[in-house]
Amino acid sequence: MKTLVLVFHPHVEDSHVNRKLMDVAEKVDGVTVVDEYAAYPDFKIDVEREHALLQEHDRIVLQFPFYWYSAPALLKQWEDDVLNIGWAYGDYALEGKEIMVAVSTGAPAECYTHDGSQARTMEELLSPYEAMSRYVHASYREPFLVHGAATSTEEQLDEIIARYPTFLTGR
Ligand SMILES: Cc1cc2nc3c(=O)[nH]c(=O)nc-3n(C[C@H](O)[C@H](O)[C@H](O)COP(=O)(O)O)c2cc1C
Repeated sequence: MKTLVLVFHPHVEDSHVNRKLMDVAEKVDGVTVVDEYAAYPDFKIDVEREHALLQEHDRIVLQFPFYWYSAPALLKQWEDDVLNIGWAYGDYALEGKEIMVAVSTGAPAECYTHDGSQARTMEELLSPYEAMSRYVHASYREPFLVHGAATSTEEQLDEIIARYPTFLTGR
């Protein structure tokens, strides 16, 4: 099992949670971590390089901080450029692979309920990734969520982050 973690954080140098997730992931055997904003600061994505990376791995993890109920802009650009016709669909190069998202949120988990302050669940808000995975014939796995970046203690965050290696490589 080879896992590719594509990190989409526009200010990874100021990141707390995603930086820690990257540090943890980089130490796991069989896991490749790529800082996509560092690779493409000008948003000019090398589509062939991304295709090659995706083809070399079995499980693809899209890791990002939740920004306005969505992802930082480079992930959208990445989808638009990389998941192209004749490769991702039409030819289905990702068929049989697994796609997962790993997302940090500022708000705590209880806000992401129908009765909570965000009034939507993470499952609902992340559903475009599930739909995208289905469209490209990949299987969509349960997301890894680190909630409450703004409110949790360091110990609480570390406890969740410690589960990341199992999420990356486990069945
Ligand atoms: C532009 C922007 C938009 C954000 N939107 C949300 C949001 O919609 N929901 C939320 O829970 N947190 C939101 N946040 C908080 C981030 O998700 C949070 O700071 C981040 O996940 C923490 O991870 P990091 O330490 O790696 O930056 C937003 C932060 C920024 C800068």
